[in-house]
Amino acid sequence: MLYWILLLISIVAVYLIVNPLITMIRLKIKFGNAVYCKYLPIFGIIQVYRKSFKLTGNVHQWIVDIVIKHPEVKFVVANSINKPIIVIIDSEYYKHIYQDHHLVTKHDQSGIKDFLLSGGLLFTEGPKWKQQRNLLGDHFLFQKLKARIPMINLVTKEKINEMANVEKVFEFICSITGEVVIRSFFGEEAEGWKINGKEAQIELGSILASFIKLRVTNFFVYFKQKLLGVKSWQYCTKKEKEIMDRVIKLKKDIIEVIFKRRDKIKQQGHKQEGGDFLDLYLKIFMEQNVYSSDRIETDEIVSQFITLFLAGTDTTGALVANSLLLISENKQYLQELRNEVKNVIGNGDITSENINQLVFIESFLKEVLRLKPSVVYPIARKAKSNIQIKDLYIKKGTILLLGNFLANISTQNYDNPLEFNPRRWLQQKTIKQDNGFINIPFAAGPRNCIGQHMAMIEARIILAHIVRNYDIIRNSQVPKAQWPARGTQTYLPDNAVHLVKI
Ligand code: HEM
Repeated sequence: MLYWILLLISIVAVYLIVNPLITMIRLKIKFGNAVYCKYLPIFGIIQVYRKSFKLTGNVHQWIVDIVIKHPEVKFVVANSINKPIIVIIDSEYYKHIYQDHHLVTKHDQSGIKDFLLSGGLLFTEGPKWKQQRNLLGDHFLFQKLKARIPMINLVTKEKINEMANVEKVFEFICSITGEVVIRSFFGEEAEGWKINGKEAQIELGSILASFIKLRVTNFFVYFKQKLLGVKSWQYCTKKEKEIMDRVIKLKKDIIEVIFKRRDKIKQQGHKQEGGDFLDLYLKIFMEQNVYSSDRIETDEIVSQFITLFLAGTDTTGALVANSLLLISENKQYLQELRNEVKNVIGNGDITSENINQLVFIESFLKEVLRLKPSVVYPIARKAKSNIQIKDLYIKKGTILLLGNFLANISTQNYDNPLEFNPRRWLQQKTIKQDNGFINIPFAAGPRNCIGQHMAMIEARIILAHIVRNYDIIRNSQVPKAQWPARGTQTYLPDNAVHLVKI
C-alpha cells in the first residue's frame, strides 16, 4: 500500500514539476535568446514576485531588469504551480490578442469575479458583453462626459475643503474618484449615501480590501476558492461569512436606490438630457420585452455599478497618487504645473473649453502611466483553443500575460526609457517605431478601457486643484517608496507623500 501511495505522490510531483518545463523547453528551442525562462518548481511566479519585492521593494523589478538587460527578449516563460505562463513582451505578438479578443478568455486569478463582478462589463463575454459595451460606449465619449466636468470640480473642491493636510494621499484621492463614479452612476440619489453606516465609497473599498486581505493571509480560504471557484462561498468560514453579509447588505441597498429611481421615473418620466448611468439602464430596463433573451435584470445593473466603481476608483486614484509621488521626487515640475493651471484656468474651474489646454499636465500624466501604470498587466488571459500567432504556437489552456507595460520601458521603443521625462510627450516622435500598441496603459482593441476618457478628465481636474491648493512634500522619514503586489499599482507606505495646504 505504502508503495502505491509513494508512487502516486511521485507521479503527481513529477507532473507538477515537469509540465511547465515542456513549454519552456519547446519555446527555448524555437526562439533561443528571444525567450527568457524563469522556473521555480511548485511555487512558480508567486515566489518570484515575493523574492523581487523582498530584494528590491518592487514586485515587478525582476521582469523590468530582464527587459532592460536583454532587449532582444520577446517572451518570458514562468510557471504557476504546474501551469506555464507566457508573458508576451513583443507588441507584434500581444497586439493580436488585443485585436482578436475572442481567442482568449479572461482568467481571474484573484477570485474577485465570482465574488462581486461576474455580471459586469469587465468579465462578461460574447453577446452579453457586446450588449453592455454598446449600451455604455457612447456615454464614455468626451462629448457626453463633458457634462460631468462641473460635478468632478465640485467633488474635488468639497474634499479639498475638508482636508487642511493629507497624510494618506491614495486614500484621499480614492475618496474623490470613488464619489465621482457613484455620482456618475446614481446622480443625486447618491449624495450622502451610507452603506452599513459608512460613506458608500468607503464601505465598497473596505469590502474589497477585506476580501483581498483574507485571501492573501488565509491559505485555507485561498486554496478553497482556487479549488471550488464560485461554489467555495457555499462553505464559508466565519470571516468569509462576515464579508458576505456586508456584500448582501450592499446589494440590497443598491437595489433600493434602483427601485426608488424607477418609481420616480414612473411618476415624472425619463430625463431627456444629462442623465446618469442609472437613467440609461432604467430606460432600457423599463421598456424591454419581458420575454427577450437579452433581457437586463436588476442583478446586472447592480454588478455593472460595482464593476464601474471597482474599475474606476483605485485605477484613477493610483494615477493621481503616483503623480504626486513623482512630483514630490522631481520638485522642478511643481512650479511648471502650477504655472499652467494659473495661465489656463486662473482661480476658476476646469471647463470643457479649457481642459484640453492643460497640455503639460496631460504629458505629465502620460509619463506617469508609462513608468508606473495603474494597471501593470491586464487580467490574465487563457487560450480558448490552440492558437497560432505569427511563429508562436500557444496550446489551449495556456495562461498569457500581456506585457505592454514592459514594451513601454524597452530601449527598443524609447530613448532613455527609465528616465522620468514628461516632456518626451511634447515631442514630434516619442516612440521609435510605433505600431499603435506600445503606449497603451488603457489596453487596446475592442476590450480596451471604456473609462479612459473619464479617467483622464478626472485626473487632470484633481491634479490641477491639488497643485493649486497644496504643497506636495516627500516624507523624509520614508527613504524609499515600495511597490507591492496590488490590484492597482501604487506605492507603500501610504504616508510617503504629504499634502500641506498653502
Ligand atoms: C487611470 C485609470 C484607468 C486605467 C489605467 C484603466 C485601465 C484599464 C485596462 C488596462 C483595462 C483592460 C483590462 C483587461 O483587458 O483585462 C480596462 C478595462 C476596463 N475599464 Fe479601465 N482603467 C482606468 C479607469 C477606468 C474608469 C474611470 C472606468 C469607469 C468608471 C473604467 C472601467 C473599465 C471597464 C468597465 C473595463 C472593461 C472593458 C471591457 O472589457 O469591455 N476604467 N481599464
